[in-house]
Amino acid sequence: MASDEPFSEKLRVPEALTFDDVLLRPKESRVEPDDADMATRVSTNVTLNIPVLSAAMDTVTEAELAIEMAREGGLGVLHRNMTVEETAEHVETVKRADELIIRDVVTASPEQTVREVDRMMGKEGVSGAPVVDDDDVVLGIISGTDIRPYLEVGDRDEVREAMTDEVITAGEDVTAREALELMYEHKIERVPIVDEEERLTGLVTMQGILARREYDNAARASDGSLVVGVAVGPFETDRALAADEAGADIVFIDCAHAHNLDVIDSAREIKTQVDADVVVGNVGTREAAEAIVDFADGIKVGIGPGSICTTRVVSGSGMPQITAVAEVADVATQHDVPVIADGGIRYSGDAIKAIAAGADAVMLGSYFAGTDEAPGRVITMNGKRYKQYRGMGSVGAMKSGGGDRYLKDDPEDEEYVPEGVEAATPYKGSLESELHQLVGGMQSGMGYVGAETIPEFKERSEFVRVSSAGQTESHAHDVVITDEAPNYSPDN
Ligand code: XMP
Repeated sequence: MASDEPFSEKLRVPEALTFDDVLLRPKESRVEPDDADMATRVSTNVTLNIPVLSAAMDTVTEAELAIEMAREGGLGVLHRNMTVEETAEHVETVKRADELIIRDVVTASPEQTVREVDRMMGKEGVSGAPVVDDDDVVLGIISGTDIRPYLEVGDRDEVREAMTDEVITAGEDVTAREALELMYEHKIERVPIVDEEERLTGLVTMQGILARREYDNAARASDGSLVVGVAVGPFETDRALAADEAGADIVFIDCAHAHNLDVIDSAREIKTQVDADVVVGNVGTREAAEAIVDFADGIKVGIGPGSICTTRVVSGSGMPQITAVAEVADVATQHDVPVIADGGIRYSGDAIKAIAAGADAVMLGSYFAGTDEAPGRVITMNGKRYKQYRGMGSVGAMKSGGGDRYLKDDPEDEEYVPEGVEAATPYKGSLESELHQLVGGMQSGMGYVGAETIPEFKERSEFVRVSSAGQTESHAHDVVITDEAPNYSPDN
């Protein structure tokens, strides 16, 4: 008679599950998907309006994509395959993107000629400039309309003759609403910001205020700037300090195996040196979570689930993602530390399953690599458009400096043992429309479960286990797809 007993104790092993192994059990609901509130806490001090992060990969997140992510309510995490100085520049670019008060103000001096200022404004792409003396005291403001040819100002006249000298200024504490009221009242488009001695410290423009209004769901820090995260190597204190200094909201300790005790020691030390929150990852087990939960502001989960990852086949090690998230969340929730599920998400359904398993937010790479805002150009193969997407442990990424995530820290050693591949991903158009599909699908999942907020959804959701026949049933089947859906491809 056959026995279920294993041949050896070593084979008495627990089962670990991933996205396709489970489905959300539908429940009684009055929640319309559109009403589901997607706000979530992603680290101790940072709240997002959608629970979505873009991966710290050199084919995914640089300043351009990070700006768009934050404008849409999520968070971009800048990759670290760049110099420390470049990291600081990218952070500053994101932080400056939607700021109310512009700091890099193009100014004119009263002695310049109208022609010089006209040229300067054209070159800098601005349509007006405060006129300041040598001490930066504001004397007037000059704009395109002051120097049009039909006015009685000659090209060679000095700016002091053409400028408007009754300038409406405001102090540093001006709000967008107050600035707008000043603009309407005085029929002007820009308000110089001055200190107590009337010295110029910045500029608020109508254009800037209107741009900010367009992004009413943006994820912003308390000073109104867009939020941004930065990946740093576990031993890269210099990058962490530079990112912090430049204003990063979260430093992500970026490591393939954060249950390495040296990594934890270093992360703990970095945490004492920066003002930004520190998220630590990646981990995939309860024990790893226990080792970092006392100091981490967030824990990132994912050992080998990523689309371009080969960690599991190369090293024989890893954790299927639903189990990994659930184990880590069991520990993190008790300490009120947010959890981020990183990697392996192909569909919006996977993303909301990760949240049901206990994550507060999800991180995606391949989903965003094909968007306009991701680095790299569009390539055409066999008439279809693609963008490059590569693992940070791939040979190409390691050659350009990113190998230490995969413990290859000797730059002289050319014989890499990669844990990722270089690939191409279909070109997808704008990040905004990808996020619309992703978040819309997640909201739909919340509707099926009857939860209006992410914390409520985490509480209320339950899984059922799916057989392989059930998986087949879940996908489009027994048909030939004639038109591509914007949120589904059977090849994912
Ligand atoms: P997706 O599935 O969204 O995964 O494309 C993105 C995540 O994959 C991780 N990553 C890697 N993992 N080898 C790995 O084992 C690699 O070369 C590699 N590069 C990225 C990373 O966590 C990312 O967020």
